Amino acid sequence: MANPMLLQPLSLRGLTARNRLWLPPMCMYSVVTEDGIPGNWHALHYGTRAQGGFGTIIVEASAVTPEGRLSPNDLGLWDDAQIAGHEYLVKAIHIGGALAGVQLGHGGRKAGTPPWRPDVDGARSGTLPGWDLVAPTTTPYPAHAAPRALTTDEIADTVQAFAAAARRAVAAGYDVIELHGAHGYLIHQFLSPLSNTRTDAYGGSDEGRRRFALEVVRAVREAIGDDKVLDIRLSATDWAEGGVTGEQTAELAQQLVQAGVDVLHVSTGGNVPTKVPVGPGYQVPYAAQVKQAVAGMTTPGGGQPQVVTVGIIDSGLQAEQILVAGLADAVAAGRPALRDPYLPVRWSHELGVNDWQAVHLPVQYWRGAWR
Ligand SMILES: Cc1cc2nc3c(=O)[nH]c(=O)nc-3n(C[C@H](O)[C@H](O)[C@H](O)COP(=O)(O)O)c2cc1C
Repeated sequence: MANPMLLQPLSLRGLTARNRLWLPPMCMYSVVTEDGIPGNWHALHYGTRAQGGFGTIIVEASAVTPEGRLSPNDLGLWDDAQIAGHEYLVKAIHIGGALAGVQLGHGGRKAGTPPWRPDVDGARSGTLPGWDLVAPTTTPYPAHAAPRALTTDEIADTVQAFAAAARRAVAAGYDVIELHGAHGYLIHQFLSPLSNTRTDAYGGSDEGRRRFALEVVRAVREAIGDDKVLDIRLSATDWAEGGVTGEQTAELAQQLVQAGVDVLHVSTGGNVPTKVPVGPGYQVPYAAQVKQAVAGMTTPGGGQPQVVTVGIIDSGLQAEQILVAGLADAVAAGRPALRDPYLPVRWSHELGVNDWQAVHLPVQYWRGAWR
């Protein structure tokens, strides 16, 4: 393949990513100081993957409030004291030649549940004692502690917390701001009828359930100005009766673009325990549905909305087929990049591209190219 689509640049507002491969956000739970500040470990982890050739790197969920963290070891952007650490991360990513993004998140009723508990064997086993859980209603995620329902004043404060975190992300130099609207965290909790049974203006109908997400998008767009890329990650389906569907998400995507979003990063699930038909590319049809819904729309920034697909995309050929078929504009690969930080180089080789200049790898590595 002379010129695979995977290696074509991706235009995002005024910025250009060198290719169409994204590192999706992946929590590392590695802030040992528990203050949300990125350290050397984070800079090495993300910097290596930037040097490995990813076009766009989205740094893991960074909490907009302390209680919105998924664990005490999450990154944060709720405090100005965290800006310098993120700036250090952004530099590490830019040196490797990738665009730097960060995911802004709030765990809502799923906060305070690290994937391991020192005091309990095994995996996710519930909420850490004493965590201040907030959510649209008091209904807990199964086997987790019960949250408090947010008042309308607290909802307004949370919208402002997202905007303030976004302002800090801009101050740190990030190119892309991604909102975590997926996987059963706070924004998704508001969007889904399975977790939002409020009867006030923030529930009761699709319009009410979408109000929080749209308010966050508008506030964040205003906070970051016109130059930065605004991306939102969505769970397109709850994979459950009565939950969010692909059709609803396609309609929501149009509203989000009108409100200021440039990129839709399409995932699924996470809001309720359910059976998910996991397999190669299983979320791609949902990205394609969103892409079709926003085709022909123009973002307020003047560009075309871009759609990123993710989920068990395990080879360069599979990624290339998705792009060539027009099912998405970019492909994210998470776990494969935990196994191999040089994944973009390997996938380019699989696609027959051995010219490392074409892969936009740092010049220092060109002599390592396959012959
Ligand atoms: C260790 C780990 C941490 C993750 N943390 C996040 C996160 O912070 N935010 C998020 O939206 N998704 C998170 N995810 C989901 C990934 O971004 C991705 O959607 C998922 O792994 C599926 O893609 P893959 O098959 O390419 O790994 C995480 C996944 C893993 C494996």
